[in-house]
Amino acid sequence: MGEIRLAVVGVGNCAAALLRGIEYHRARPDDGAGLMLPEVGSYRPWDIRVVAAFDVDARKVDRPLAEALAAPPNCAAGDGPLPESDVRVRMGPVLDGVAAHMADYSADRAFRVSDAEPVDVARVLRDSRAQVLVNYLPVGSEAASRHYAACCLEAGVSLVNCMPAFIVSDPAWGERFRRAGIPCVGDDVKSQVGATVIHRTLARLLAERGARLERTYQLNTGGNTDFLNMLERSRLASKKVSKTEAVQSALAEPLPADRIHIGPSDYVPWQGDNKVCFLRLEARGFGGAPIAFEARLSVQDSPNSGGVAVDAIRVCQVARDRGHAGPLLPISAYTMKHPPAQMSEPEARAAIEAYLAAGR
Ligand SMILES: NC(=O)c1ccc[n+]([C@@H]2O[C@H](COP(=O)([O-])OP(=O)(O)OC[C@H]3O[C@@H](n4cnc5c(N)ncnc54)[C@H](O)[C@@H]3O)[C@@H](O)[C@H]2O)c1
Repeated sequence: MGEIRLAVVGVGNCAAALLRGIEYHRARPDDGAGLMLPEVGSYRPWDIRVVAAFDVDARKVDRPLAEALAAPPNCAAGDGPLPESDVRVRMGPVLDGVAAHMADYSADRAFRVSDAEPVDVARVLRDSRAQVLVNYLPVGSEAASRHYAACCLEAGVSLVNCMPAFIVSDPAWGERFRRAGIPCVGDDVKSQVGATVIHRTLARLLAERGARLERTYQLNTGGNTDFLNMLERSRLASKKVSKTEAVQSALAEPLPADRIHIGPSDYVPWQGDNKVCFLRLEARGFGGAPIAFEARLSVQDSPNSGGVAVDAIRVCQVARDRGHAGPLLPISAYTMKHPPAQMSEPEARAAIEAYLAAGR
C-alpha cells in the first residue's frame, strides 16, 4: 500500500486544481468537504504523489512542477499550496494537442510550443515507476491521448482518462488494457457538483414524478483555456457526444437530437476559471400541463473535478493492488461522463462501496 505514484499529462488548470486540492486536504485531514469517497482502501488523497509530468507549452516545459502549475495561462484558484516536488515537466509529443487559434490570444494567453525535444514517454513512465497516469489533455487531442494510452500499455501504467477521447469506453482499447493486465478508468471526468450530475438528477426526478421531458438545454460558458480551446468547433465532437450521452442515459427514453442541446457554449475571458451553466428542462405533467424548470450554476471549474479525480485514481490503484485489469465499470460510471457502461450515481456508488468493502 502506501503511496500512489502518479504521472500527469497536461499541466493545466485541472492538474493545478487537483494537486492544490490534495495539499489543502493534507493540511486539513479532518475536512471532508469536497471528498465523495474519503476512504478508498487505505488510500487518502494525499497518498497521491506526482512522479512524472508532461506538457508542451514553452511556459511549462523544463520547469519544476510547482512553477509550471502556477505559470500562465493557468488561472485555477485554490486554497492549497502547490506540491513540493523535485519533478520537472517533460516535453511530450505534440501531435494534435494544440489548436491553431491558441497562439492568437492576448499576451499572457499566447501559446508557444516549446523547442525542447519530445521525450520517450513510455521510458519516462518506466524510469519514474509511475503507477497511474491521469490524462488532462485539451479536448480534441485524439491522437495525443491514444499515444499516451499506448505508452501506458507499454509501461504497465494505469490510465485515468479525464478528457473526452473515447479510450476506456472503446471496447477494443478496453480489451488491450485487460490483456495487458492493467486497470483503467474513463472517459471524461464528471465534476463533483457540476452541470452533468445536476442535469442527470433533474431528468431522473422528472421521470420519477411521472413528468415527461420534452425539451432541454445546457449552455456553459467559461474563461479558462479549456473553453478557449473549445472555440474551435472541429475539436468539440467527442465532448458534445460525451456530455449529451451522459444526460440521455439518465432518461427513460432518449430525446430526439433536435430536442436536446448540450455543450460548451462560449468563451468569456473575464470569467477565468469560473464556469457558469444555464439549464432548462421543459416537461409535461398530468393532463398534458406544461412544466418548465430553469437553473443557473456558478462554480470554479477546475477544482470541481479534482475531488472526483482523486477517487478515480485511488480506486484504480486499489484495483492494481488486487491484480484486476481492464476498464473498471462502477468507478468509471460514477466519475466519468462517457464510461464503458452507464449506471445511475447511487447504483455506481453502491457497487464501489461493495467492491472496496470486499477487500477489507
Ligand atoms: N471541471 C473540469 O475542468 C473538467 C471536467 C471534465 C473534463 N475536463 C477536461 O480535462 C482536460 C483538461 O482541462 P484543463 O482545464 O486542465 O485544460 P488546460 O487547457 O488548462 O490544460 C491542458 C494542458 O495540456 C497541455 N498539452 C497540450 N498538448 C499536449 C501534449 N501533446 N502533451 C502534453 N501536454 C499537452 C497544454 O499545454 C495545457 O497545459 C480538458 O480536456 C477538459 O475538457 C475538465
